[in-house]
Order: sequence, then structure tokens, then C-alpha cells
Amino acid sequence: MNDKTDLSARSYDASQDEGVNVPAVATIGDLIAARFSRRTALKGMTAAAAVATVGGAIGASVSREALAASQSSLTFKPIPHGYDAELHVAEGYDPQIVIRWGDKVTADAPAFDVNALSAEAQKKQFGYNNDYIGFFPLPAGSQNSDHGLLVINHEYTDRQLMFAGIGPDDLDKQTKEQTEIELAAHGMSVIEVKRENGRWGVVENSKYARRINGLDSQTVMAGPVAGNARLKTSADATGTKVIGTLNNCAGGETPWGTVMSGEENFHGYFGGKPESAGAEAVNHKRYGISDKPWYAWPKFHDRFDIAKEPNEPNRYGWIVEFDPYDPTAVPKKRTALGRFKHEGATSLVNKDGRLVVYMGDDERFEYVYKFVSNGKVNLQDRKANDGLLDDGTLYVAKFDKDGTVTWMPLVHGVGPLTAENGFKDQADILIETRRAADLLGATPMDRPEDVEPNPVTGTVFVMLTNNTKRKDDGVDAANPRAANAHGHIVEIIPAGGRGKDADHAAQEAKWDLFLLAGNPAEAGHGAKYGDGEMTASGWLSCPDNVAFDKKGRVWIATDGAPKAGIADGVWAAEAEGHGRALTKHFLRTPLGAELCGPCFTPDSTTLFVAVQHPGDEKDSTFENPVTRWPDFKDGMPPRPSVVAIIKKDGGEIGS
Ligand code: FEO
Ligand code: CA
Ligand code: CA
Repeated sequence: MNDKTDLSARSYDASQDEGVNVPAVATIGDLIAARFSRRTALKGMTAAAAVATVGGAIGASVSREALAASQSSLTFKPIPHGYDAELHVAEGYDPQIVIRWGDKVTADAPAFDVNALSAEAQKKQFGYNNDYIGFFPLPAGSQNSDHGLLVINHEYTDRQLMFAGIGPDDLDKQTKEQTEIELAAHGMSVIEVKRENGRWGVVENSKYARRINGLDSQTVMAGPVAGNARLKTSADATGTKVIGTLNNCAGGETPWGTVMSGEENFHGYFGGKPESAGAEAVNHKRYGISDKPWYAWPKFHDRFDIAKEPNEPNRYGWIVEFDPYDPTAVPKKRTALGRFKHEGATSLVNKDGRLVVYMGDDERFEYVYKFVSNGKVNLQDRKANDGLLDDGTLYVAKFDKDGTVTWMPLVHGVGPLTAENGFKDQADILIETRRAADLLGATPMDRPEDVEPNPVTGTVFVMLTNNTKRKDDGVDAANPRAANAHGHIVEIIPAGGRGKDADHAAQEAKWDLFLLAGNPAEAGHGAKYGDGEMTASGWLSCPDNVAFDKKGRVWIATDGAPKAGIADGVWAAEAEGHGRALTKHFLRTPLGAELCGPCFTPDSTTLFVAVQHPGDEKDSTFENPVTRWPDFKDGMPPRPSVVAIIKKDGGEIGS
């Protein structure tokens, strides 16, 4: 979700205030220097051991040469900062448009006509505001980097850039037809893509192609909350059958090749004062539901009116899993992973064979979570893992100033999570995950976005995008800046450290600051990067998504940098050793866009990126957008698009 000046952003900020978590106790800390202490490289960890344990366990493709590298290996010439109508990428790289809003997805999709939109067409065409991208090689289980499936999230819609004659604040003008187009433009897409003669293209009429939308796609509830009374509605007495998935932001892959997609700001679609929802009032208030919805949906669909359907919001805010290789697979909302504003979910196989999933709740002063399965991952039989996400323990993180992370279990009957506090069973804890985490004393963070393990080193990167509401007396060691406009990145080092002894299932870990974003030349920013020379355009603002290439280098995508006077984009850095946290600018978006979904093919020769909400600037409309990227045709508004970046002369990205 963007954080700029249009309606959705204004509503987004306002709703964050409504749903915001106010920490009961604030610790004062000045521990930045202390937390930047660790500067060790991959000492004591042989390449072979790393391949056998960390990389091997995660199933990632890891080269021994990569692990042996001790010098900064990012050789591309950085691009300068800037902010204009075009997408820019480092010299020698070729950005190729793969698919745009409205392009054909299913075989029966009509051609896109921006002046004759319909919900029926949109259900078959590529949705709006692409965020997460996952690459799933074909055939399944292979490392093929020239042919695969892309799974893409469609987070939300921008009415003023989709429809003629409507401004961002014109909810009253919105028609039922437009509402249904918006619902159809939400959800997810699966497309088959292939690289031939150096160009990526969509395979037409693919048997895998599908759209999952917010209007009439079927999803089901799974895990401990499925069928719970608090999920039952007029339309669904079973509490298990849900229409679609909404506000899908980031996501991740499981080791067995399914996708996990995060339902993030679901609250913005529902309307009504929390009090109108009776027994659910406290719950809905904690998640920011108000009588000022972002869309006109409650006017046309009763399920978005909480006075009429008080339980409907409980059916959103989950991690949704499905198998992209099976076009008939019904997406399942995995309730054991908790209900909050899920940015995404990333996973690894722990050394004991169990699955560990890391997750962030993206709102100011919210928390970082992980889920540990009870069962073990079966890499020999993909289908055997269906249900692994339904049975396990959810934990929330407390970051202490001594550098310890304590993972506290969200388990009924443990500590304050009892009937006296309104949790009659585990389902109540999972529906009201935030309130349960509050009671445990989790550390309120500066908007946790992607939380993702580096498949080469095994450390976990926590992207904290910004939090301008943190006060001077509310800083702590892990969120060390008040009025944090630029965000920062925390690194979690699992118990046992880097390498073969890493134990991601343990209840204790260590943490460190990777970088404090902002411009180091501006003393007021309080920015801090790695030790060494930064290039002029090396500084960034508002880290959101992250990806790791096969060498374990970190590629950071931003959302909100225009507030600091620069475009959003991609910055890359070494994760370890020389060049650690010395970010270099690789790509920048056109005006108004954020950059999402960075995703490498297994061989790291292609980087897929999602350019989300291009042209989303103040006073930028369908008729007069600030950019018409990527088509640049009169009458065609800017279109959110997926872009494949390859190196013109071949080889790994960034090499
Ligand atoms: Fe949708 Fe947290 O960004
Ligand atoms: Ca975002
Ligand atoms: Ca995000």
C-alpha cells in the first residue's frame, strides 16, 4: 500500500491512527552504536557446510563460489537519484514489460479496452496494483530459470486512474459497476512465462493461467478457526466458505512449491462504526475498521457493512496458501498463522525438518511473528504438506536492548491468554492475534513489512518501513529513531548463529541493526549504513520488500521514498563482509509508483519487479496522469505492470 497523498494513502494514514497500537510502556534507548556492533563475515562457516545445511535445507540454489566471495561483488554502475515519468535501470540491463493491468490472463479474456471496462472482462484480465511476485519453475521441482509460473498479488485499486471523471475522494460518485470492476481487479494472477531469444513473454492459453478475484472466487478457511462461530455469516452458515481474498500485499513460497499470500489492509473495505458490530466491536476497532471505508463497497454489497455482517471481517487478514501448479486448487486461508495485516510470509525448513514461517504485521507499532509447524516438511511428496500450515505454534517477537529476541508463544492458557482476558480458546487468539500479542508485551515496531530469511546466510531481514508517530520517549533499541520517516532494517540471527547449527524454531535469537535509512548527508535523518564509501545515490528511504540473489546479496525495494525527494526503486548491497549494508541504486520507478515483488529466477539471471500504482500522485487523474508509463499512449492511463530485468550480455543480475 502506498503512503503518499492520494485518497487511499490519506485514508490509509487515518485508519492507521484508528487502528494504531499505543504501547503501554516505552523504553528509552540510545543503543544504535551498540547494535551496529557485529561486522563479522561468514567466519567459521565453510562453504560446504553452508550448502549442506542452510541453503540445502531451504532448497535454494547456492553456489560454493558465491559463499567464498569476500569482496563486494556488485559491479553495476549505480543510477543517480531522480524522479520522472520513466522507469530507469542500471546501464547494461534490459527492462522488459511482461504484463500490465488489463492484459489477457485466461484464454477466454477479451482484449483490454480502458474505455469499456467491465467486471466480467476484469475477472479474466490482469488485476490492478501488482505487489508480490513469486517465480515457480516449470516443471515443478526443477530449477528452470527460463520457463515458469509467476504468481502475482493485486493489492488494491486506484479509482482516479482507472475510471474517467472520478476523483480520489469521490466515493459518492462510484457506481455498482465500478465497485464490481474494483473487486474483480483485486486478488491474484497466475501466468505462465517463458524466456526465448532473450525476451520474456507470457505463454498464451496456458493451462495454468488463472485469476483469483475479490468478487466471486472461492476460498476456504483452514486450520483451527475454520468453521468457528465468529466466521459465520448470512451467506455462509458453515464459517468455512469465503469469497476471494483481499488486499494481497507481499507473500512467499513454501519449500514444496505452493504460494503464501498476505491479506494486509482488509479493514479499509469494511464500513460501519465498530460499535455496530456488537460483540465484535473491540476486535474490529483494534484492526482499524471505521465508518469511513476506502471504497464504496458497503453501499452495494452487504458483506462489507459490519452492522449487517459483523463477522465478515474475521474472514480476512489471513495468509492464503494455494498450489499454482494446480489451476483447480482452492486457496486456503491458513488460520494457524494468525490474523493481522499480513505483509507477507516467507519460509524455510528448519534443521529439524519443521517449517518456519516469518511474518510482519504492517502498521505502526505492530509486531513481528513466526510460525513453527508441528509436522516435518516432506520434499519427496508435495501433496503430503497440505495441512502443515494448519498445525503448529505462532510466536510474537520481543526485541530486548541487549540484542536478544524472545519468541513468545501465542497459545491458549499460556500466560495471560485465558478466558479471563476474553480468549475462550485458541481460535479466539488467532482471530484477535493483535490483542493477544499486546498482552504478552511484544515489541511495537516501525511498520514491519517483509520479514525474510537470507537463504545463503540464514539470518532474517526485517524491513521496517517508517513510523513518523513514534515519540522521543517511545524509542527503543530496535526502533531507535523518533519520527522515523525513512525506516530501517533489523537482522535476526537465529539461535546457533549462521550456518549448520542455526535453529529457527528456538524461542530465543539475537538481533542487530542492518541499516538506518535516510540520507547520511542530512544530519537530521540519523541515517547509518555499512562501514565504507557510499555512492551519492546509495541512500534509500522506506524499505518495504526484499529479495536475495543466489550469492545471498540483499536487494531492497522501497515504498515512500518520494517523500524524501527521490523515486522509489531497488538498492542492492552485500549482506556480509566488505560492502555489507553499503547500498547501491539499481532501479527507480516512474512518478507515483512504488516498487514491489523483487523476485529472482533460481539462477539469478532475471529479476522480476512489480511497478505498483504508477502515476499515483496528487491531482494525477485518468484524464491527466503525471505519467502514462508504460504505454505512453494518449488516452491510456498509467498501468501497474510486471517487469523482467535481464543483463543485456547475459549473466547474473548485479554480477
Ligand atoms: Fe502493502 Fe505493507 O505494504
Ligand atoms: Ca507497499
Ligand atoms: Ca509492502
